[in-house]
Amino acid sequence: MSVVALSALLAAAASVATAQVTNVSQQFPATPLANKHFSYPSGIPYKADQDDLLRGTQLGYNICNSTTEGPDSLCQTAFVNHIDDWCVWAPATPNETIADTEGEEVAWCTKPGHGTRLIPAGAIKGVQFLVSPSYLEVLAFIDQTMLNLQASDYGGELDPHGADLRGNPLGGLMYSNNLPQSGTGDNNSYTQVIEWHKYVPSRFCV
Ligand SMILES: *[C@@H]1O[C@H](CO)[C@@H](O)[C@H](O)[C@H]1NC(C)=O
Ligand SMILES: *[C@@H]1O[C@H](CO)[C@@H](O)[C@H](O)[C@H]1NC(C)=O
Ligand SMILES: *[C@@H]1O[C@H](CO)[C@@H](O)[C@H](O)[C@H]1NC(C)=O
Ligand SMILES: *[C@@H]1O[C@H](CO)[C@@H](O)[C@H](O)[C@H]1NC(C)=O
Repeated sequence: MSVVALSALLAAAASVATAQVTNVSQQFPATPLANKHFSYPSGIPYKADQDDLLRGTQLGYNICNSTTEGPDSLCQTAFVNHIDDWCVWAPATPNETIADTEGEEVAWCTKPGHGTRLIPAGAIKGVQFLVSPSYLEVLAFIDQTMLNLQASDYGGELDPHGADLRGNPLGGLMYSNNLPQSGTGDNNSYTQVIEWHKYVPSRFCV
């Protein structure tokens, strides 16, 4: 969020403070995002972050399906499964930077079926998928301008913590059907990824 937008939010918050359900001058949620665990799919709430605090409210939603899929999707539930089946976080509107939109990124995935946006054809220039005993890693070269990022943006780091513990993006969730620790890798049962990190320059890594 830009400084200007934050100032506007604070000014708006001051004028309607008595009407707020939650205290918008507070920064921290009662439960940090990284402590919120939801079983897939039925345990996932519409929004993982239902607070209205200093950084505002969650932009999108976490229940994602065929009705939410497409170029306007605001789905904030992402996946890392296989080399042909993973998602990145990127801005919802064109010509942005990660620094200005880190709290508001939405999921862009390699294939349909997750209720998200799709990474446009031609955006991925190369990809490596690493399966270790402890983690999965996608390393890819991407034309970031096809994901609403300015060509010159040097990106940033996103994770489910953030300075205020609401995560970047706020309410962002990640799941996998291929975590090394969770057994079968049968592509059917999804486990929530509790710790994830995403780096977003044109050489992107999650
Ligand atoms: C709102 O939160 C701030 C910061 O924690 C606190 O100082 C203030 O007293 C709270 N206001 C209300 C009305 O609870
Ligand atoms: C599909 O997702 C939308 C948006 O989150 C939700 O309102 C709707 O209930 C979902 N539909 C089903 C069948 O789960
Ligand atoms: C993208 O944003 C930059 C900086 O805000 C601006 O200078 C530029 O004109 C914008 N480009 C487009 C195509 O909107
Ligand atoms: C799981 O899906 C991947 C492709 O996404 C495929 O290569 C693999 O064979 C599948 N595994 C099983 C057990 O079906």
